[in-house]
Amino acid sequence: MSTAGSLVDSHGRVLRDLRVSLTDRCNFRCLYCLPETEAAQNFYRGRWARMPDSAPIVQQWTPRSNLLTFEEIERVVRIAIGLGIKKIRLTGGEPLLRQGAEHLVARIAKIPGVEDLAMTTNGFLFAEKARALREAGLHRISFSLDSLDRDNFKKITGRDGLAEVLESIRLAQELGFAPVKVNAVVIRGINDHEIESLAEFARERNLSLRFIEFMPLDSARAWLKEMVVSGADILQRLRARNELKPLASDNPSSTSKRWSFADGRGEIGIIAPVSEPFCGHCNRLRLTADGKVRTCLFSVTEHDLRSRLRAGASDAELNEWFHGVALQKEARHHIGEPEFVSPPRSMSCIGG
Ligand code: 5AD
Ligand code: SF4
Repeated sequence: MSTAGSLVDSHGRVLRDLRVSLTDRCNFRCLYCLPETEAAQNFYRGRWARMPDSAPIVQQWTPRSNLLTFEEIERVVRIAIGLGIKKIRLTGGEPLLRQGAEHLVARIAKIPGVEDLAMTTNGFLFAEKARALREAGLHRISFSLDSLDRDNFKKITGRDGLAEVLESIRLAQELGFAPVKVNAVVIRGINDHEIESLAEFARERNLSLRFIEFMPLDSARAWLKEMVVSGADILQRLRARNELKPLASDNPSSTSKRWSFADGRGEIGIIAPVSEPFCGHCNRLRLTADGKVRTCLFSVTEHDLRSRLRAGASDAELNEWFHGVALQKEARHHIGEPEFVSPPRSMSCIGG
């Protein structure tokens, strides 16, 4: 593949994947992201002798006037595609809280060169939008599902929404979204006892389920290493019950290692950014809902694209600017190391 004109960082990585957050707002309060519910506070308080000193992030939603408009997002995507980006994933917060998200999908799906268009959603509002999204040209969808137990689901997400999310997953399959992926963030003492049942659910429903290690991206900065269940431990537990066959990676920048069950139904992926960082082949850029470009989930600096767009920058100027931003992509994250600094914003603002 030609890399002429492509975004290449100072470590030789060619950037191909842009994640676009449509809003920082969310209708859930997942305890690994926006731990504002009493259940979340109790969980963390029980594990911390005292709550962390570092000031918690006070969640202030982006005012509407600071959100990139659909026209602005479409322009940025066009420019990014011209710079070698191939894959676009729409995220949030909860992307389906953005009014008319399906219209943006339709606009992006029509841009020549978008090889892959996907969305990550918590699934609560998906059912009512599913057909419109499909017709607009969305083919791939990922849901968050961390528990199959109604009470535990509510404890984790702050919302009694398991039935809605399960129905959304069913509907996505019925409408032919492919693949339908499901993300489960595993937290010790919260849902690690559900690893086997989640895997069984993936096999039964023929779903692609990805277990994700808990990362320090929660707004309370209450993450502790002890709360992480490593990918290796998750795999060992699954292997004790199932015969798993390794699957070849579908792309070299894939963050997950994948396995199939013996009967060929369903698929398990393990994403282990904490215990086995994959930064060396990370090819991602992120665009926040308020128009900042982030070169890493854990970036402590953001690059202000919105002000450039609104000051009338030309495509040529923005192309050059993007090349400069790409060069600043961090080599790797420093989770678990003494110098680690939490990013100033939670996952809901950054975009998953
Ligand atoms: N650690 C790991 N994954 C997270 N997500 C959100 N916060 C965290 C975290 N602290 C994931 C969820 C969701 C996606 C958008 O990001 O799985 O599906
Ligand atoms: Fe949960 Fe995603 Fe909402 Fe964060 S943005 S609270 S991870 S559903």
